[in-house]
Amino acid sequence: MTDKDLIKIARDAALKAYAPYSHFSVGCAIEGVDGTVVSGANMENSCYRLGVCAELSALTAAQAAFGLAGVRRIAVAGGDGSGTSLVGSSPVTPCGGCRQAILEAAQLSGTDIEILCASGDGMAVERHRISALIPHGFGPASLKDSA
Ligand code: THU
Repeated sequence: MTDKDLIKIARDAALKAYAPYSHFSVGCAIEGVDGTVVSGANMENSCYRLGVCAELSALTAAQAAFGLAGVRRIAVAGGDGSGTSLVGSSPVTPCGGCRQAILEAAQLSGTDIEILCASGDGMAVERHRISALIPHGFGPASLKDSA
């Protein structure tokens, strides 16, 4: 699967977002080490703080499909999903909470997961590793000294 293919799956997933409050649709596609790809979108709630980000939604699907330890690569895209294709020119990077959730998957497998951060139209793409997005993070490895 090419980067472009994975980003397209993320962009398509964003069209399934439930985002009536922010009007900002985000999609996330996750490729597993076995080649399986799962996706998710943000799902907001009238109790605003209960909204779920696209990355968390996709990570839940990844856990069900191949396990968090099997996450190989992630693509995220966000923008205006009110039409027939996602639009917008600015790359979307995962929020802080989602970085923490991706770090969990990364430390389980010991992989510095690559994240493709795309604009809504897919034309602008930033590549980041989770270690750069959440330096000095607290993850499963940080619990090694627990009782
Ligand atoms: N959002 C995501 O789905 N992922 C992110 O990493 C950033 C933000 C969603 C949450 C909310 O539904 C909307 O984008 C606006 O913040």
